Amino acid sequence: MKRIVILISGRGSNMEAMLRVRDQGGLGPAEIVAVLANRPDAGGLATAAAAGIATQVLDHKAYGDRESFDQALAAAIDAYRPDLVVLAGFMRILSEGFVRHYEGRLLNIHPSLLPAFPGLHTHQRALEEGVRLHGCTVHFVTPALDHGPVVLQAAVPVLDGDDEASLAARVLAQEHQIYPRAVRWFVEGRLRLEAGRVRVSGAHQDGALIAPRCDA
Ligand code: GRF
Repeated sequence: MKRIVILISGRGSNMEAMLRVRDQGGLGPAEIVAVLANRPDAGGLATAAAAGIATQVLDHKAYGDRESFDQALAAAIDAYRPDLVVLAGFMRILSEGFVRHYEGRLLNIHPSLLPAFPGLHTHQRALEEGVRLHGCTVHFVTPALDHGPVVLQAAVPVLDGDDEASLAARVLAQEHQIYPRAVRWFVEGRLRLEAGRVRVSGAHQDGALIAPRCDA
């Protein structure tokens, strides 16, 4: 069994999607051992606790600087001995030391088709730019913000009449599809990093999903 720790900052709908998929047996041989939040008011904490998962809050405001918070966070995470750390709406920039410590076992989901629109307000920026395709990306985390080897992306159309909320909702529905899938691939040992690119073993081509690099 692979041990997964999930980090959240807010409502935790991606975490919830992962719990749903786990309950249906779709996450592979994995155990979600803890959900950690950097905000005491993160809504997802109650969801995790109701599902019987250990929760813990490390309020970043209680720490003097980024390094000391990240060190405390890493210590808290490591107490759960995770094979994989999943950032699910964790709204903190992580220090290089933290990222290096979890190299190859730290995943993030970002609500854009990276490398377009790193950072915040991705849906609003996509609307302002007038792009016709938008989406979300699961990637391994590297020290550069919203960068790192892409595991899986899903695209959605930008429709006439979309506003930030309608576009965000369309993207979020795809996030809930691709993140559990990427986690399952990790858990099943099907992801391989090769020259900074992710390769997925097995056949996974799926019309709705863009670009896992599949082996035959
Ligand atoms: C998602 O859109 C995720 O891509 C971004 O923050 C949002 C978190 O939503 N990083 P939730 O907390 O998983 O509902």
